[in-house]
Amino acid sequence: MDPPKVVARLREAGCVFAEDEARILMEAAQGSVSDQESSLTELIARRVAGEPLEQIVGWVEFAGQRLPVVPGVFVPRQRTALLAERSILAVQAATDTVQTTGSAVQAANAVRDVTDATENGRPARFLEAFCGVGAVATTVASAIPGTQIHLGDHDETALRWAQDNVGPCAQAHLLDCLVGLPQALSGSFDVISAVPPYVPDSAAQFLPREASEHEPATALFGGVDGLDLVRRLVSESREWLAPGGVVLIELGAAQYTNAAEFAEAQGFTATSTLGEDEQSVVLELQLNERRNPMNENNRWPEVARSCTDARRRHFWPAVVG
Ligand SMILES: C[S@@+](CC[C@H](N)C(=O)[O-])C[C@H]1O[C@@H](n2cnc3c(N)ncnc32)[C@H](O)[C@@H]1O
Repeated sequence: MDPPKVVARLREAGCVFAEDEARILMEAAQGSVSDQESSLTELIARRVAGEPLEQIVGWVEFAGQRLPVVPGVFVPRQRTALLAERSILAVQAATDTVQTTGSAVQAANAVRDVTDATENGRPARFLEAFCGVGAVATTVASAIPGTQIHLGDHDETALRWAQDNVGPCAQAHLLDCLVGLPQALSGSFDVISAVPPYVPDSAAQFLPREASEHEPATALFGGVDGLDLVRRLVSESREWLAPGGVVLIELGAAQYTNAAEFAEAQGFTATSTLGEDEQSVVLELQLNERRNPMNENNRWPEVARSCTDARRRHFWPAVVG
């Protein structure tokens, strides 16, 4: 099938970015070991039937890297690049704060270069809760090598892919929200980032078919107002945050006020960054009161694995360069 025909077929089926999708599907068919023409026909048929492009080709482009995804798991969305960007800044600030007396904000403002966290004393400890295939954690691990990466999800398949995507230095935890984290990690996370399921149950009818039919409902819906798991995360994170630690949560812009009010009632100061789509925000929470679980040597009770791998990649120049 020639390219214009592929584009026309996809456009007819309602694909908004038909040219891009046609190119990606043709590339995938070329990589097929069987007959390329019938392989392309099959890939197009799956797409026309509503399967997400990323699940068909087995990868998603996210923040400059190609992450494997598989059928049945949540496909990372491009809007989540903002959460990854804010997470990198927060981890960098935490890393710098450990070795300087400056505030986290000063440290974030001072970020001019990507540094290996292990070169600067204790690396920051980062958790991506509700991690799916770990798009945010993978981005943080690549931007700031040496960060202690932890991953949490209740879906074993997603968690396995997240571990694979970040690499062996990450510690994966099968969790219900944060329940199930090892007690030794209590009071020790510098940054907790998450995209909890936040679609209100009543919005199911507005979801595109590729989400409602090909992604698990438990990855999408967050109760009547969409905030059930956001509220749980806010409450539960109090136990796991290090002094000065922050929680970053992606949610819908219309949900911001309710979520921020809830967090403030829980003792957090809330700020936010609006996404480019103007539909989503990253809610940033800092706990007002501080506990200090570090021992007298200013070290965490548990010695964690750290990642000093050679995969250091400068793919986030807009943020760190
Ligand atoms: C919206 S997806 C976000 C995935 C990933 N952060 C991303 O942006 O690609 C929500 C994720 O939360 C997980 N999840 C849903 N309910 C959960 C719970 N109670 N505890 C832990 N994980 C849960 C789902 O399996 C899914 O991977």
